[in-house]
Amino acid sequence: MRVDPPLLLAPMEDVTALPMRLIAKRIGGPGLMFTEFVSAMAVHHGAKKTLKKLWVDPLERPLGIQIFGGEPDVMVETARLCEEAGADLVDINMGCWVPKVCKTGSGAALLKDPDRAEEIVRAVARAVRVPVTVKVRAGWDWSLFAAPELALRFQDAGAQMITLHARFAKQGFEGEADWRLICEMRKAVRVPLIGNGDVKSPEDARRMIDETGCDGVMVGRAAISNPWGLRSIRCGLTGEPDPGPPALAERVEVALEHARAMVEYERRADPSSDAAQVEARAIRALRGQLPMYIKGEPGAAALRQRITLCDSVAELEDILLGFAGQAKT
Ligand SMILES: Cc1cc2nc3c(=O)[nH]c(=O)nc-3n(C[C@H](O)[C@H](O)[C@H](O)COP(=O)(O)O)c2cc1C
Repeated sequence: MRVDPPLLLAPMEDVTALPMRLIAKRIGGPGLMFTEFVSAMAVHHGAKKTLKKLWVDPLERPLGIQIFGGEPDVMVETARLCEEAGADLVDINMGCWVPKVCKTGSGAALLKDPDRAEEIVRAVARAVRVPVTVKVRAGWDWSLFAAPELALRFQDAGAQMITLHARFAKQGFEGEADWRLICEMRKAVRVPLIGNGDVKSPEDARRMIDETGCDGVMVGRAAISNPWGLRSIRCGLTGEPDPGPPALAERVEVALEHARAMVEYERRADPSSDAAQVEARAIRALRGQLPMYIKGEPGAAALRQRITLCDSVAELEDILLGFAGQAKT
């Protein structure tokens, strides 16, 4: 499987749902995208809220579905379902540091339990035909840079690519990502290595590849409500001309497209519930992301609260189209 361009959209909970990915793909054109992480245990229990995270649209491929869990059997079962759902690869999360995930022995907790981590990778890699990859942090805390040794074990267990978010789990998002950790990983593993952490511009992406020798870059926060940022990074990597930042009208149009697609997505997941309630839920799920589409435009800050309180597409249209109209006159 080729990842071309070597630009990956990071898995992000509550962000990289299907509607967002389709927009990111069309405008930003990354070589590979990931779903938000999917709880293997929730899939095992058939949770409706979780199963929709396995939906794959042919237009967004290649797509990696990322799963998390601490039980090899449950991870195997879910990985098989991901493959059936159309995932081009299955990624195992070993980077999430939040207590609700770690206390179940999943996510970054696996960095402290190398035998179990390896067992999970081996079991999942044996169970599916699609490539299995792992996303790790550097280790649990500064006392041990565990990732190179772990990555070697994962590679031997069948992992075909490793992504390193160049921070320790204990850090959360504090401080700057330390790309020197990616250099050290590069020396350790032979499978493709993806660098991740604080890439915000084409210059950052190029510098990460040059400084660390990684095979590709993964971008997370810089792509939230900003597919054009991904596009710039792609153009920087491929040499295509960068059309540059969009006009306000385009930002608004895409924000509305995102909101409408989210409503459709939630309705498809929950067809029997009241349509207006589902619409409100969908819009509220985007309340952090929608204002970011117009961030930085004069007058946008004043709209943040109104957008946050919206619970229908019609209301959102009023606010955003009104704002774009005023800005024009
Ligand atoms: C809102 C949000 C949700 C995230 N959810 C996930 C997730 O589900 N799985 C995962 O591996 N990482 C997750 N991450 C971490 C990102 O994938 C990425 O490693 C991190 O943001 C660093 O990259 P960046 O500096 O480009 O944002 C999340 C990050 C953010 C900001």
